[in-house]
Amino acid sequence: MKLLLHPLPVRIFHWIMALTISYLVATGLYLHDPWGTLSYGVMRKTHTIAGIILVLNLWGQIYYYLVTGKYTEILFTPHDFPNLRSFFRYALFITEHHPNYGRYNPGQKVLFTCWGLAALLAGAAALPYFFPEYADWLSRPLGGLGGIRIIFYGIAMFFLATIPLHLYLALTEEPAKLQAMFSGYINKEPKGK
Ligand code: HEM
Repeated sequence: MKLLLHPLPVRIFHWIMALTISYLVATGLYLHDPWGTLSYGVMRKTHTIAGIILVLNLWGQIYYYLVTGKYTEILFTPHDFPNLRSFFRYALFITEHHPNYGRYNPGQKVLFTCWGLAALLAGAAALPYFFPEYADWLSRPLGGLGGIRIIFYGIAMFFLATIPLHLYLALTEEPAKLQAMFSGYINKEPKGK
């Protein structure tokens, strides 16, 4: 029996997010410390375009999850606190089983929530570059343009440190779930078989 695990909008949002964030981190590191013969101007322009696409995609995701009410499936909310204990016991090999957490476990939810917040913060930190006439006013709460550079660097390091974890779990945990992020569907044995 085929079950729709990831509807089309979720898959489109996911792959746009994955591509733009990977591109932003790679080109951001290049812009921070250029090397070789690559064009700085092209890198800067495509980096900006990827950032705009990421932020538009993020607003699309926020709209989709609010309208469908499914945000509790991916965001870490106060209701998830009691699940942390069993999750850590399972993750630290203290127990062999864990309760059914729904679509994502509390660890995944913390990661997805932090990624969303990091992308929102990066979008806000980019505003002074889009509105140079208000740059002083927009950048002051973030420590000026110097502070913003540190924020971008920190966000890039955060993604670099956490994406491998997501890839490791996506590629090793359950091949059917990985395939579902492409096709949308997962094959489920009917109950009783
Ligand atoms: C920067 C890169 C990436 C980011 C920011 C990212 C982000 C996310 C997010 C937010 C979700 C939750 C999606 C939802 O239900 O709406 C998710 C799920 C998922 N991602 Fe990624 N992703 C990235 C790269 C990848 C790549 C390269 C793969 C495959 C090799 C992948 C495979 C998956 C799978 C299989 C799930 C579902 C996990 C499950 O059902 O347990 N992701 N990802």
